[in-house]
Amino acid sequence: MCGIVGYVGHRDASLVVLQGLKRLEYRGYDSAGMATIQSGCIEVRRSVGKLAALEVVLKSKPMRGNVGIGHTRWATHGGVTEENAHPHMDCRGEIVVIHNGIVENYLEIKSTLLERGHVFRSQTDTEVIAHLIEEYQLDGADPVTAARRAISDLQGANAVVILDSRSPQAIIVARVGNAGGVVIGIGEKEMFIASDMPAILSYTQQLVFLEDQELAIVEADGAQYMDLDGRPIRKEVNTALWDPVAAEKGGYRHFMLKEIHEQARSVTDTIRGRIDFDAGRVNLDIGFTKEEILSLDRIHSVACGTAYYAALVGKFMIEKLARVPVEVDYGSEFRYREPLLGANSLLLAVTQSGETVDTLAAMEEARRRGLLSIAVVNVVGSQASRLADAVIHLNAGPEIGVASTKAFTSQLVAQFLLALYLAQERKTIDEAEIRKHLQHLAELPNLVGKVLTDGEQYQTLAQKYFRRQDFLYLGRGINYPIALEGALKLKEISYIHAEGYPAGEMKHGPIALIDENMPVVALVARDVVRSKMLSNIEQVKARGGIVIAVASEGDNEVASKADHMITVPITSPLLTPVLMVLPLQLLAYHIGVRRGCDVDQPRNLAKSVTVE
Ligand code: AGP
Repeated sequence: MCGIVGYVGHRDASLVVLQGLKRLEYRGYDSAGMATIQSGCIEVRRSVGKLAALEVVLKSKPMRGNVGIGHTRWATHGGVTEENAHPHMDCRGEIVVIHNGIVENYLEIKSTLLERGHVFRSQTDTEVIAHLIEEYQLDGADPVTAARRAISDLQGANAVVILDSRSPQAIIVARVGNAGGVVIGIGEKEMFIASDMPAILSYTQQLVFLEDQELAIVEADGAQYMDLDGRPIRKEVNTALWDPVAAEKGGYRHFMLKEIHEQARSVTDTIRGRIDFDAGRVNLDIGFTKEEILSLDRIHSVACGTAYYAALVGKFMIEKLARVPVEVDYGSEFRYREPLLGANSLLLAVTQSGETVDTLAAMEEARRRGLLSIAVVNVVGSQASRLADAVIHLNAGPEIGVASTKAFTSQLVAQFLLALYLAQERKTIDEAEIRKHLQHLAELPNLVGKVLTDGEQYQTLAQKYFRRQDFLYLGRGINYPIALEGALKLKEISYIHAEGYPAGEMKHGPIALIDENMPVVALVARDVVRSKMLSNIEQVKARGGIVIAVASEGDNEVASKADHMITVPITSPLLTPVLMVLPLQLLAYHIGVRRGCDVDQPRNLAKSVTVE
């Protein structure tokens, strides 16, 4: 989850690296640091805390040089201290390393190096990489060979960036496993390195993505690529689809608020090009043969966090329309439960970043077991998009806020399109029904925009309840996962304890929690379980509880029972979750802001969890 940036060219490296790190700070931020090379000498600056602290250090002690690397850290090994901040150096101060991932065998490497007299300054796993490279150089290896050998010795998933005073015009970067991306940006007589595209999009949109077991030597006029055995490899240059402005805040106070309000457009972009009204068809070229689609007998969805809740909604959509059984697993659980995977099963990975290590590991497990896989993913060029046999891009644009919002609704829409496509190809619904669903899809962005217009009520609710210590979210059927997602949104950006629960389970435990202190958010759609939700609201009220209902427009019965009511337009039951989640995003946002939380970069969290 760390942020990595590198630069080599004609500009002041420290400025380019700092700007890049600012755009990556959402990935992880316990500490930050930077290194540059100037006439063969390496300079390092580091600081604990947010990037602003490093900026203060740089103001008092500016750095020189046109070659530099920088890092924002989300601590895995070693506490949050300046000694543990990257970059880390070898004994002689001639090799400096930044790193994303976990060196699983670092203790073993470290004890060998200690026996050879190496002195360590930190408790990190990263530092052993610098000393290991030094050790290979002491054995006579040149900088690149030493780097290749050292990186080959590392176990685990790691992305490593190296500055070496012996090759002062070059940055060496390598990637092993799924340690989060490494993207190389190609400029005019200048080159960029980053763990994520937003860091460098304002300079170039010509990008190369390093894959597992690949290394690059990056100099101002270009890069050479090779495998870890030193064999040259050819790399494809991709053109980024995102413009740098889209990665900025666009006048909103926080990325999260901007991304919440982008959802009418992002939902439109997810749908665009994939429905044909004239023909009454879904065009979703996943590249599977007719027989693969017809013989499909089970889908295993894997995801983490918010994406997992999106996959739970997707289960309802796919089972209802395509009549294919769907099992949903947390990425972190899937590979350890020895899943029963049939020959005609399909793996569906749902992931915004495409870099979540547990989701990637589940994809690899499925691939190893011979399953075809589809990735529903936002980040183009991400590992999931390269690992899968087919990709459904969200096309939602960069999501910078750590709390996922627009990616979530796009994940719902993308799975709806998949469900409709499978139903169309397997003929489990007729053309008339397909056209009906297409019509609902076409109306959806406008309905999303309608929900997002009235922000006032959320600020009123936030003002009233932001000091509460516990919230309970209740939903049923396809909106039960929305209750889970609403609770996660509140938890992760306001630090209030919140729990999502299937409303029917209230009487089996949670009803003991009901009192006048704990607001209960109840999701009441105009669907087959509406009357059950109404009685759940009455059960809460009968025990003195507070009910904030999210219900369909015009539902006066809910209005008469709940303390507060937020309405959403009526749409098809399968698409109602897209609308139901919007008020929960806004409620969480305004409560988080009211509590003075850093809603874009919540404590302890990172945008993409690339370590187990
Ligand atoms: C969502 O708000 C969280 N930031 C987190 O749960 C996230 O959804 C999860 O880490 C999965 O990320 P992915 O979609 O990039 O795989």
